Amino acid sequence: EKGLYPHYMLKEIDEQPLVIRKVISKYQDASGNIRIDSELRNSLKEADRVYIIACGTSYHAGLVGKQLLEKVADIPVESHIASEFLYNRPILSKHPFFIFISQSGETADSRGVLVAIKQLGYPALTITNVPGSTLSREADYTLLTHAGPEIAVASTKAYTAQIAVLALLAFDQAQAQGRAGQMNPFHELSMAANAMEIMINKKEMMEEVVWQYLNASRNCFFIGRGVDYYVALEGALKLKEISYIQAEGFAGGELKHGTIALVEEGTPAIALVTQSSVRANIRSNVQEILARGAHVCMISMEGMEEGTDQIVLPAVHELLTPLVSVIPLQLIAYYAAKYRGCDIDKPRNLAKSVTVE
Ligand code: F6R
Repeated sequence: EKGLYPHYMLKEIDEQPLVIRKVISKYQDASGNIRIDSELRNSLKEADRVYIIACGTSYHAGLVGKQLLEKVADIPVESHIASEFLYNRPILSKHPFFIFISQSGETADSRGVLVAIKQLGYPALTITNVPGSTLSREADYTLLTHAGPEIAVASTKAYTAQIAVLALLAFDQAQAQGRAGQMNPFHELSMAANAMEIMINKKEMMEEVVWQYLNASRNCFFIGRGVDYYVALEGALKLKEISYIQAEGFAGGELKHGTIALVEEGTPAIALVTQSSVRANIRSNVQEILARGAHVCMISMEGMEEGTDQIVLPAVHELLTPLVSVIPLQLIAYYAAKYRGCDIDKPRNLAKSVTVE
């Protein structure tokens, strides 16, 4: 029930801090350790490469998951769009392990890959929001995202829950390999939940951004580097699907290799700065487009902000920034769609679960 909320999407955006806390409680055992099936742990431990398969927003969570598994657990990971993987299968490693990410657990493109790799005898884990869904039943292992039913077509809380579960999976592996550092993933996730809540309580700020930057525009760029680029892709997808504004997510450094030709006086762009390693480079990319007249909204993380940035996010662990930086992007998409009078929960041409290839 959406209760007092005008739209399910807004309700689901607001639920995200609670969902992260729910993930923490479901995955933390009585002694504070990560609760993950030991067979799953050992199977993943034997893998020489992980293949993450998903579509749309779940694919974007998979890109963040790749970063988490590589940086935290030192496992090589490839993230693939399911429909491409199915018809252009890459050469696989000797001991591949597959992770399917799907809110619904019913996506036909992802299922196509699952069926194909099970025929080859490879192990598979499904990360899904729906217990008993097809992808869950057909994989060897399931991790649930515990986000509760997601009704709005545009995925929000499923994405952040997927990232939280991927983070715990990565930490569990790091521990299994005896390489976990000092970081307590539950503590860091709970700090992230608090930061998400702070952003959710600043909705007027995102409404104002829409008013200032997207009021009359037909297009918008989202830029970032590293994990910020992955979140930029998700921000662009959200804006496209519910407000019908043409949007593109770009790696900051790639703009000047062609796309910058599209930047003219007043072109809106949203730039993310949450990673200290690329902070200077992304700021210089922003200068390049500002010089060509772009109207840039800066979203930075505390400690990396400059006085003129429009939105400053509370600082969280560097690997968990997507949980926080996606919130303003979800809200920007929401308000842009609202101002345009779009059918926010049921955008045109889209279905909640895509059961054809
Ligand atoms: C975007 C969106 C879609 C889904 C995609 C995969 O907001 O909802 O891009 O993420 O269709 O769906 P699942 O996760 O159910 O496999």
